[in-house]
Amino acid sequence: MAGADAAVTEPALVIRTMRPDEVATVSALIVRTLRETNAKHYSSQEIESLVAGFMPDAYPRRVRGRHTLVAERGGTIVGTAALGQERINTVFVSPDEQGRGIGAALMEAVEQLARSAGWTVAQLNASRTAVGFYGRLGYVVAHDGEVGPNTIRMRKPLQAPDPTPANPQGRLPASHGGTAPVDC
Ligand SMILES: CC(C)(COP(=O)(O)OP(=O)(O)OC[C@H]1O[C@@H](n2cnc3c(N)ncnc32)[C@H](O)[C@@H]1OP(=O)(O)O)[C@@H](O)C(=O)NCCC(=O)NCCS
Repeated sequence: MAGADAAVTEPALVIRTMRPDEVATVSALIVRTLRETNAKHYSSQEIESLVAGFMPDAYPRRVRGRHTLVAERGGTIVGTAALGQERINTVFVSPDEQGRGIGAALMEAVEQLARSAGWTVAQLNASRTAVGFYGRLGYVVAHDGEVGPNTIRMRKPLQAPDPTPANPQGRLPASHGGTAPVDC
């Protein structure tokens, strides 16, 4: 039989901007990930309160003003991350696909967007679930620490884009002093 010993090649991972017709798919991915992955670190009440903000009726409002990326493999969306006005938001990888470098690839892409926008420091509000992940990528807990009951502010310096900085002055994202509930 031809090709019996041929290696099975996995489709390449593509990181790209989310299309408007993909909002419902990404909403479903986030909701599932909250219920399956984040549920290990939050109460069911906290999870369902979070889920409400990512359901198809609410999520489109959340993505306005953000540059949302998706990770796609073989035509399936397997993760997402976004660059907001103040911080990196909404980093989620499908439970079936975690631990395969997709989160790190999304973070690299979203940090590149931040550099291109002139940011010299990336900041985010980490879920309890993801503090170790962001730490692995070089983020450290900020001195202003916990910003809500269940999120932890983390930051990482970004190197200027090469060869010419988009904004030679550099820019810090605006500070977020709120005490919002979990808003990754
Ligand atoms: C956090 C999350 C995005 C990570 O995505 P992922 O695709 O599984 O991560 P990766 O496989 O790219 O991991 C990159 C590195 O981080 C490490 N890592 C991943 N999750 C980790 C964790 N919870 N604690 C410590 N290290 C972790 C990996 O081992 C890997 O390290 P390596 O480079 O030494 O191999 C994913 O687990 C997720 O969607 N979690 C639930 C949603 C969430 O909480 N998102 C953050 C909102 S603030």
